[in-house]
Amino acid sequence: MKSYRIALVLLAAALTAVGCTQKDPTEKKIDELLSKMTLREKIGQMNQISVNDAESCAESARKGEIGSVLNLVDPVQINKLQKAAVEESRLGIPILVSRDVIHGFKTVLPLPIGQAATFDPALIEKGARVAADEATACGVRWTFSPMLDIARDIRWGRLAEGYGEDPYLDTQMGLATVRGYQEATTPLAACIKHFVGYGATEGGRDYNSTTITERQLRNIYFPAFKASADEGAMTLMTSFNANDGIPSTGNKWLVDDVLKGEWNFDGFVVTDWNSAGEMVTHGYATDLKDAARLAADAGVDMDMMSYGFITYIENLVAEKKLSEARIDDAVRRILRVKFSLGLFDNPYVDEHGWEKALYTSENLAVAQQTAEESAILLKNEDDVLPLKAGSRILVTGPLADSPYEQLGTWAFDGDSTHTVTPLPALREKFSVTYIPSLEYCRDENTSSFGRVRAAAASADAVVVFVGEEAIMSGEAHCLVDPSLKGAQSELIATAHASGKPVVVVVMAGRPLIIGKDLENCDAMLYMFHPGTMGGPAIARLLDGEVSPSGKTPMTFPEAVGQTPIYYNHENTGRPNTGTETLLSDLPRAAGQTSNGCTSYYLDAGYGPLFPFGYGLSYGKFEYSNVSVEKNSLGMADTLKVSYTLTNVGKHDATEVAQLYVRDMVGSVVHPVRELKRFERISVGAGESVECSFSLPVSELAFWNADMDYVVEPGEFQLWVSGDSASGTPLPFSIR
Ligand code: GLC
Repeated sequence: MKSYRIALVLLAAALTAVGCTQKDPTEKKIDELLSKMTLREKIGQMNQISVNDAESCAESARKGEIGSVLNLVDPVQINKLQKAAVEESRLGIPILVSRDVIHGFKTVLPLPIGQAATFDPALIEKGARVAADEATACGVRWTFSPMLDIARDIRWGRLAEGYGEDPYLDTQMGLATVRGYQEATTPLAACIKHFVGYGATEGGRDYNSTTITERQLRNIYFPAFKASADEGAMTLMTSFNANDGIPSTGNKWLVDDVLKGEWNFDGFVVTDWNSAGEMVTHGYATDLKDAARLAADAGVDMDMMSYGFITYIENLVAEKKLSEARIDDAVRRILRVKFSLGLFDNPYVDEHGWEKALYTSENLAVAQQTAEESAILLKNEDDVLPLKAGSRILVTGPLADSPYEQLGTWAFDGDSTHTVTPLPALREKFSVTYIPSLEYCRDENTSSFGRVRAAAASADAVVVFVGEEAIMSGEAHCLVDPSLKGAQSELIATAHASGKPVVVVVMAGRPLIIGKDLENCDAMLYMFHPGTMGGPAIARLLDGEVSPSGKTPMTFPEAVGQTPIYYNHENTGRPNTGTETLLSDLPRAAGQTSNGCTSYYLDAGYGPLFPFGYGLSYGKFEYSNVSVEKNSLGMADTLKVSYTLTNVGKHDATEVAQLYVRDMVGSVVHPVRELKRFERISVGAGESVECSFSLPVSELAFWNADMDYVVEPGEFQLWVSGDSASGTPLPFSIR
């Protein structure tokens, strides 16, 4: 919408310059409508309620007291409610119908954290368009997605809905999703959330407080939001957490000064579910009326489910505790989105033909490709994978044929009867013996493990499907021990004891602590709940029709005690050297020395199990000839890096090449690496490709000690590598 509006503003400016005073036609319509609205009707636009049928709220709609509903996903009901609002109210303002379409509507895509693992924004944009096509066909015109929360703590269940730990990857994935939604044939309004810092929740426990400095907000947590706001995301949602003591929903600096002031955001801001009312619980508002005042005054435009706005804002205006100008600004923003979506021209949905839009072969193909590209090959000892076509494989584990769990968390409208699980897909390619062995992920019943042992004897390989049930991640589902539950690890060990090659396929909502499981298998393919088409995707990956190409969007810790752990950390004054003595190596009565004097854990060392950006493939990639066009650059220059990527493996494969940068000295300390570019590059077996990255020096800017957004001259290093821990640093300088 932003670019469209910029064009109109420029047109208006040009016309004004030549003596015409043409206002943006939409803004003119909004002015006219606003001028007719009563205060009550204005406040009605700021009110969002959750409903599951039209009748229950049709009268409120006739009174113009509902601006938006969520959770109404029946076209017939949507049309009924819309009719009440459009044809039976005084001003006929359509209602904005919303839903959490988080990773697909009916065709369920991989979890967003899995989408991030693809490092393929173009594909993610296609997936968002699939979601938009299906959701809008049903009458949903606003989704509470993409979630842009940076996550560095695997205990936090909601990381499943986001794009991981890196600001640049988060930004690219968010932009792709916003474009996919809002540029669909029938646009679906995006909602960038949760503003801000929700993923830094203390202890990895949902809804907890956060303590993020302004500099960290600006350098780490804001970038993805600003990029999507600039791209024209139509809405934004405030987060539940209080940061530095101030709940986001009442944070005037955050919403009014930064988002609407500095960033000139012209969409509208919605609270999270009752997050206005929860400011009373936080101890930030005295009562719901006070909470409504604080939220509206902070710049929030729409109230999700606290009923504070519709109940108290009229009084607050009468008591001069809120200005009507603030209300007008909120309503203008809401009406702008409704006009941009075309709701005034066509508020109704086709009740009859809408199912044609669902599960089309194109939609399923996008879902399958996303699942394929989301798969991360963490281990492949002796090239156990790909499995030879026609192999006799024993398939076991609770997620080999679990259509519901495979969809993952927050797939509200997903229909598990459409899920294609790995079992039938594998049966098309291999000679399969199937022993479920565990009924579900928390199952502790090992009584069938003897059959697994026996069946393994006559198999060429054992494929074990383990992971998490959908309910074990997502909102409010945090874990202090994010590892395989039930007897899953024992099942892997049982398969391992057979002596046959063991392939473990994980489907989870987060990185798990899987070190010991990794030791008990020859290969591990890691997926974040892959959605409707996960089965065919896994079958194609296991038989080598497609090579895994996914990369870890988050660091995989050795132990949960290492969290929060992330690649773009600061160096500290005593960085780990990798030579530290572990507890197991210390002598008894060890001398009273500060052993190591560096930053590490006696019982876990320092490094993660797998770094950010890591993933193997069926190829084997080598980087060489990394060089820069110029190694001393001015502020207006562009850093040009070239390199050779060679696939020395036996299979064609795709690599995600990554460009990292480090600012060696600054007015504040910098992370030891920061991802600045990535690219998926397919290379045939035995072939080399000449590649390059371009990075404008301006993109090295950061918020410095003076809280200025600048590039500081000095020495830098860069890496071109296949993950955040490898590669050879190459120096360059900015003058
Ligand atoms: C939830 C979530 C938010 C979601 C909203 C509506 O509590 O925090 O992400 O969009 O409520 O369901």
